[in-house]
Amino acid sequence: MNLSPLQKARYQYSPKLPGMLRGGISEISVKVGAPTESVADQAKIKALFPNTYGKEEITFVKGSNTSAAKKQVVGVILSGGQAPGGHNVICGLYDAIKATDKNNVLLGFKGGPSGLIDDNYIEFTDEYINAYRNTGGFDIIGSGRTKLETEEQFKVVTEVAKKHGLTAIVIIGGDDSNTNAAVLAEYMAAHNTGVQVIGCPKTIDGDLKNEDIEASFGFDTATKTYSELIGNIERDCNSARKYWHFIKLMGRSASHIALECALQCQPNICIISEEVEAKDQTLNDIVDQICEAVAIRAEKGDNYGVVLVPEGLIEFIPAIGRLIDELNDLLAEHGAEYKDLEAEEQRAYILAHLSKENAATFETLPENVAHQLSLDRDPHGNVQVSLIETEKLLSDMCEAQLAKWAKEGKYKGKFATLHHFFGYEGRCAAPSNYDADYCYALGASAAQLIANGKTGYMAIVKNTTASNDEWKAGGVPITMMMNMERRNGKMKPVIKKALVKLDGNPFKTFQSLRGKWAKDTCYVYPGPIQYWGPAEVCDKTTMTLALENEK
Ligand code: FBP
Repeated sequence: MNLSPLQKARYQYSPKLPGMLRGGISEISVKVGAPTESVADQAKIKALFPNTYGKEEITFVKGSNTSAAKKQVVGVILSGGQAPGGHNVICGLYDAIKATDKNNVLLGFKGGPSGLIDDNYIEFTDEYINAYRNTGGFDIIGSGRTKLETEEQFKVVTEVAKKHGLTAIVIIGGDDSNTNAAVLAEYMAAHNTGVQVIGCPKTIDGDLKNEDIEASFGFDTATKTYSELIGNIERDCNSARKYWHFIKLMGRSASHIALECALQCQPNICIISEEVEAKDQTLNDIVDQICEAVAIRAEKGDNYGVVLVPEGLIEFIPAIGRLIDELNDLLAEHGAEYKDLEAEEQRAYILAHLSKENAATFETLPENVAHQLSLDRDPHGNVQVSLIETEKLLSDMCEAQLAKWAKEGKYKGKFATLHHFFGYEGRCAAPSNYDADYCYALGASAAQLIANGKTGYMAIVKNTTASNDEWKAGGVPITMMMNMERRNGKMKPVIKKALVKLDGNPFKTFQSLRGKWAKDTCYVYPGPIQYWGPAEVCDKTTMTLALENEK
């Protein structure tokens, strides 16, 4: 493989560990916190997780640990969408278990959860690991979205674990994958397999977080990558002065990515799905909001601008959300009956089976959007929102509205549009210093949780806006984040997604500034991620994290 000069140079970067994780296992002891409860539906979650529910939060501290370390054979998988830093989690885990005992073994199961079922694995060596240090991507072992949930799958995983003598499995994933981790941990505990299961919080979407999990890894690098691109477009926009750019940004449900990019780049408009839902807005309300800014800018001769649209918007428009809920149930119960029908017949079948209110909403949607909403969900029951061209839908609707306003004499201007979708561009970028350090620390923290016999825990690293010396590592029981939700037509225990808080500092800051950004041109050009140079440039966290930690 030919290596870029940057990749070669990044091999030399030594990720910084939190102070208390420096030194060997004999110098790290455990501070046990209070027992925990799930975020909601406590009785139901407790009944479903009798062996792993209610455990205590733990923090690692400098001290002496005299417990005899047993030999570890650990399996690791990467699960779900790629996120910058995944390789460093594996490197941190590898280095920590090898530092404890060089005979410890780390196996990487390939292609996501299915690797555990197919027993498709490699054993990591120094040489193999070294080629992936501080690099982006998940190509070290690949990833996948297979959902581990059936008794049969668990039996196979148990057999695979027994065959290799696995003492622990680490699942690096988002909310759905860590839900899998919690269910697997419970199964392993209930069946006395002796296999511990530990999760690590990954997703560029930033929606796997709470008081203990400050950020999901990858969010920092991905938003910096998108902000670079948006800044470049803003500069082009401000130079050419002839286009309105509609930019859709990844983030399946939550609008954290869009909000962070807005704080970084100060575009004219940024839609926040959570606000749309809270205000019970319709598509037409959103279109009016954009058109008003277009018209005001046109009066000054500024027929250009930038609009950020979060990927998950469609599902948060209350009327469409209700339609999707009913479509999910319809798909789960009758999908087989209509999936193979011709488009027209399929539409008629769906319309005939929907409630009156939802059928009316379905009929108002452009054909391609309606079709996308009727299609298969991903293995976790999610609508594949990255395939819906919301940016095009909104700009088409704006064009129609502005034409109407022009006829009524309410608008005089030109409205030429360009469309972009930034998602895959950022998921495998070379991790920023923040993600390189954070991920390496998460891997090291997972290794300590294993060494301390924990299962059903997620590795955490917090206080990350302070210097690395002050970072705190530990673990929280995954059941603590769970509630019951309807998936594929049934109520299931799942990790509750962390959406944008409308009373949180990041949104409130955006809210206080957006009026000016809409009218005037206040663009900020963040430029590319910097790996070497002044700390205020290279080690800058996201604005979301800085504003959240300010409180
Ligand atoms: P995870 O939740 O697994 O981290 O994935 C997030 C994401 O990148 C979303 O932002 C996006 O909607 C989705 O994955 C795209 O999925 P796919 O990788 O299957 O195209």
